[in-house]
Amino acid sequence: MAEPRILILGAPGAGKGTQSANIAEAYDVEHVTTGDALRANSEMDISHLDVAHDTPREFMDRGELVPDEVVNEIVAQALEAADGFVLDGYPRNMDQAAELSEMTDLDVVLYLDVTESELVDRLTGRRVCSECGANYHVEFDQPDEPGVCDECGGELIQRDDDTEETVRERLRVYRENTEPVIDYYDERGQLERVDGEGTPDEVWSDVQATIDAAT
Ligand code: AP5
Ligand code: MG
Ligand code: ZN
Repeated sequence: MAEPRILILGAPGAGKGTQSANIAEAYDVEHVTTGDALRANSEMDISHLDVAHDTPREFMDRGELVPDEVVNEIVAQALEAADGFVLDGYPRNMDQAAELSEMTDLDVVLYLDVTESELVDRLTGRRVCSECGANYHVEFDQPDEPGVCDECGGELIQRDDDTEETVRERLRVYRENTEPVIDYYDERGQLERVDGEGTPDEVWSDVQATIDAAT
């Protein structure tokens, strides 16, 4: 078949970025992620939209959702350019889910299931490469040399929204806006639930088996 079209859902810190990197490599598909796209364009001027803040960064640093107009456009362009893809970070509310259904069909919808106490530990301990974006964790996934990326030698930094206070707000926004999206795919019988609490390798073998069974 053509390259698979995969959606990966889960709370902040569930491991979407970690598993999407594996999927992109193993299935030779594009990793389309609104979080990374917005971080790369965080100072973009969106004042013409008449929304609460003038740049994506101001929404993200508060743990709030960036307005749909901005995000829908990013995803529409990225999906148009991709053959197969793994989509990570979108849709985050029901309006975005409706937009996505106009843009493309999906072959697999994965949901990484992780409890809330684990999410806070993962996010506050996460470090990311400032050069290539690779993910690490100060306890669960340490680089060979502290503070240095194994992949490219870049400096590892903490994301601005990974402070405990902002993490709590992101989880609240997730429960309010994104859990209905999970329910929506579940009710349509599309949701493939994967236990996200094992080690990254254990989760990866479940993810891979689920994709292979569904495609
Ligand atoms: P985004 O970047 O998408 O953040 P998020 O959804 O909050 O998810 P994260 O990236 O924090 O977590 P993840 O699931 O990717 O976990 P990871 O693999 O890194 O969005 C950021 C912001 O952008 C939003 O708050 C919003 O403002 C805006 N935005 C984005 N999309 C938007 C949209 N569609 N609409 C509106 N606004 C939008 O793993 C986390 C950590 O855990 C890492 O340190 C990792 O090493 C570790 N880890 C991973 N797996 C395991 C494991 N199995 N065991 C132990 N540790 C693990
Ligand atoms: Mg991520
Ligand atoms: Zn790197």
